[in-house]
Amino acid sequence: MISIEKERELRTAVRPQVAVAEGDGIGPEISQAVQLVLREAGADLDFVPIELGERVYRRGVSSGVTDETLDLLRDTGVLLKAPITTPQGGGFKSLNVTIRKMFGLYANVRPARALAPFVETLHPAMDVVIVRENEEDVYGGIEHRQTRDVTQCLKLITRSGAQRIVRYAFEYARANRRTRVSCFSKDNIMKMTDGTFHQVFNEISASYPEIESEHLIVDIGAARLAANPERFDVIVLPNLYGDILSDVAAELTGSVGLAGSANVGERFAMFEAVHGSAPDIAGAGVANPSGLLNAAVMMLAHLGQVDVAQRISDAWLTTIEDGLHTRDIAGPRTRLMVSTSDFATAIAQRLGMRPRTLHAPTVGVPVMPAGFDDAATTALVKERVGIDVFLDWTGEPRVLAEQLRALPTPLTLEMITNRGTQVWPRGSDLTRCVDHWRCRFVGKERATMREVLDTLEAIHAGGFDIIKDEGLFTFDGVAGYSKGQGQ
Ligand code: NAI
Repeated sequence: MISIEKERELRTAVRPQVAVAEGDGIGPEISQAVQLVLREAGADLDFVPIELGERVYRRGVSSGVTDETLDLLRDTGVLLKAPITTPQGGGFKSLNVTIRKMFGLYANVRPARALAPFVETLHPAMDVVIVRENEEDVYGGIEHRQTRDVTQCLKLITRSGAQRIVRYAFEYARANRRTRVSCFSKDNIMKMTDGTFHQVFNEISASYPEIESEHLIVDIGAARLAANPERFDVIVLPNLYGDILSDVAAELTGSVGLAGSANVGERFAMFEAVHGSAPDIAGAGVANPSGLLNAAVMMLAHLGQVDVAQRISDAWLTTIEDGLHTRDIAGPRTRLMVSTSDFATAIAQRLGMRPRTLHAPTVGVPVMPAGFDDAATTALVKERVGIDVFLDWTGEPRVLAEQLRALPTPLTLEMITNRGTQVWPRGSDLTRCVDHWRCRFVGKERATMREVLDTLEAIHAGGFDIIKDEGLFTFDGVAGYSKGQGQ
């Protein structure tokens, strides 16, 4: 527990207090290198060392972070985090996911820029920023085994969460003089969840007429990003697609050791390298500190120290132009292969210099407008029209329908699907059916909760194994549920 004096000291500090976790593996080496550059560049901040990760996990704290540390983080509001090692085996929770959720870090920003011709890459003109939604989607980790055969993961997309991240992407583009925002989703299949994300993108893009906007289905978007990343500028994506594609983008620039990322919330922000703790090279002094350094540059901008951020970016690019490279980026333009600490010293020696060929990125911080949440959604009229009842059952769809229709249910059986495909009243005998059935019961126009409960009661009394149910609602008369495939 931190003392009251310490808490007061942190809260009232004029000079920003930045929590620093040196992490595991190569973490301490790259973290010390970055702290040296920040100090030499005159960053106006104090480091507050904290412990996160492997050693905390090993002490039996399954989240990798103690409550005391979480309290201290809440007070500092900013964390510069070196990579940590997630121990193998069950029982350990992802520290990153815990911190993202606890502190509401809804935006994950990952710039991926080529440094050609100094670092070899197939895409010399690439300069992409991935803005990934960071809290929702399947990362809620809400999973269930429902039958002997079937497991399920819940994908949650909220309209308000989509609004935040899409708004953030456009504000980021505006603050950094970027000209196009692309959105990737899979709304041709997931019409409700990804459909909401796409819909919100269309609505919000209309308020940024000076920024070009486009939507691509994520599969073709991913293919184009891999083949031709130069055509993209800012890309905004739901969590899972963003997780995968931001690694693809970082790798395309030449080394995973180059990219930094910012995790941003309303009152807390965490900055880290994109890569992990690289146990294979830990302690060898060869790790590239650039990923964490670029994260620290974003942190300085977040703290309003844009000049220091720019000075560090310029010095870093000058070092790379001068051919002083760590092993991972060594190539034809390398003059001297240097250690982690020598690379940091070389950057510090170049503070105040400007790169000759490469351009330092702008480090503008988005200013989120107040009250951007859509109040209109709360005014929608929500009406119950039925229920989807999920059963663990084995047999023929026609037999299931006959048995259910023989029960005294106040609501009427309209459809049965298996793994989403309609098998009754229409269906194909080629559809492979498993032990997991969605049975849709509807009222004449609406359904009362009493009718829903009596329907469930009748199905239960009929000897069926109900594994879950989902209410069917309309919102201003529009169905809030998907049809069966083939319906
Ligand atoms: P990794 O990113 O640590 O390493 C992948 C490869 O890239 C290795 O060959 C490594 O030597 C190289 N590499 C990574 N960073 C480098 C750098 N700065 N300079 C030079 N080469 C570098 O990924 P891996 O091996 O899958 O994961 C290792 C550990 O890191 C795991 O425990 C994983 O859970 C953890 N991890 C932590 C993250 C975080 O704290 N944010 C993110 C990703 C992984």
